[in-house]
Amino acid sequence: MTAPPPCAGGLPFIGVLPSIAKTPLATFSAVAETHGPLVALGRTFLPGKGIEMMHLANEPELAEFLLKTGRQHYDKSYVLLQKVLGNGLLTSEGEFWKRQRRLAQPAFRRKRVEGMFGLMRDEGDALLARWAARAPGERFDLAVDMTAVTLEIAVRTMFSTTLGEVAERVGHLLATALTEIDRRVWETITLPDWVPTRRNRDLRDAIAGLHALVEPIIAARRQDPGDHDDLLSMLMDAVDEETGESMSDAQLRDEVLTIFLAGHETTAATLTWAWWLLDTHPAALARLQAEVDAVLVGPPTLETVQQLPFTRAVVQESLRLYPPAWILARTAVEDHDLGGRRIHTDEVVFTLPYLLHRHPGWWDEPEAFRPERFLEAGVPRHPFAYIPFGGGPRVCIGSHMAMLEGTLLLAMMAREWAVHVDPAHEVVPMPTITMRPRDGMPVTLERRVRS
Ligand code: HEM
Repeated sequence: MTAPPPCAGGLPFIGVLPSIAKTPLATFSAVAETHGPLVALGRTFLPGKGIEMMHLANEPELAEFLLKTGRQHYDKSYVLLQKVLGNGLLTSEGEFWKRQRRLAQPAFRRKRVEGMFGLMRDEGDALLARWAARAPGERFDLAVDMTAVTLEIAVRTMFSTTLGEVAERVGHLLATALTEIDRRVWETITLPDWVPTRRNRDLRDAIAGLHALVEPIIAARRQDPGDHDDLLSMLMDAVDEETGESMSDAQLRDEVLTIFLAGHETTAATLTWAWWLLDTHPAALARLQAEVDAVLVGPPTLETVQQLPFTRAVVQESLRLYPPAWILARTAVEDHDLGGRRIHTDEVVFTLPYLLHRHPGWWDEPEAFRPERFLEAGVPRHPFAYIPFGGGPRVCIGSHMAMLEGTLLLAMMAREWAVHVDPAHEVVPMPTITMRPRDGMPVTLERRVRS
């Protein structure tokens, strides 16, 4: 019989979980450094399961087992996110997920995503116009602007139009729902949804508001399919080759909400982190500006954006140091061995892109911002040492879209503006459902004189 993973210490029973709740990144980093690749963190109450142990797996091969080679031993149990996203791609399981993924996959193929280029560029232009209209030296929150532009893109790719105020209302309701979910992430005791607290009501109202917004759009499209070349049409028209079935209205609604959420927050956070890193690393900024000035002489095209390797590397390096999906969790569905240790049914195993991306065994100068590391040929690296988009069959369906969108928007912004983060502002990563800067990213803009 194999032994369970060693314990991280801390308090009896709950171990280091209270400390994780208070300072997640510092505690996870310290535990990984002190206790090695696989460690038991402490026990917590999981609704519907009981009191269960949580573990941290911090080696690429353990992450590979969790997400790919040993995935049959786990499910996701993303219970909190499920409250908002229902049974969408991110949160569903088993045969249902497999079928939904088969139906949605063609919409995210590289060629399809490249077809979205024009609307991404239009939204980039609209952002630049908003920036040009700002008063000189105006201080604003970059995170808010990045969220607005990526949400517009998500809504337009889904519905082909922005439908007036839809993006703004979706943004507001999603933000409310996420704030409520974020608050519950590390709570030791969460009151059931039916208890009439203010927070439960806020969450319920936000979810009802999201449904009320999306359902009529789906119903109208069912009645009059028209001639749309957008994600909603693709998802609506998708027919499962194996079963001949297509998606119901409720499934469509869940997928629309999933793609809105998964498809904009993460890209917005990446761009926000990228600007902070560039502003604090002038040599990298200068290299990016020189590349953009040399390549983007007219309006950006798909071809020119593909000739921006350093800009793309800045996006990759930002995703390495500040991966928006900083933590991935899986729940064991049966007793099994992981890395030579026993994991029991219903126990939870975390693996953290945040830690794997800074793992000293796999990265030179792991804490340094060095985008060029992604341009260096022949550096051997375990494929699961870099997993900003996850891995295995549940890998992010939107990774091509995110990389194209991120590289394009960053290049368009950098061509015209230098973004300066308020030097008096303390930038602190806030790791909840995604990793964003706590208190936003106050910036000012400086119009560039192009070389
Ligand atoms: C920088 C941007 C992005 C990051 C860092 C990111 C990260 C991730 C990660 C790590 C996962 C796997 C989660 C897990 O295994 O538990 C995931 C899944 C997913 N992402 Fe993304 N994502 C990004 C952009 C997008 C975009 C643009 C879309 C869609 C438009 C999208 C849609 C999804 C969906 C639907 C899933 C669930 C896939 C499945 O389980 O089959 N993501 N993402």
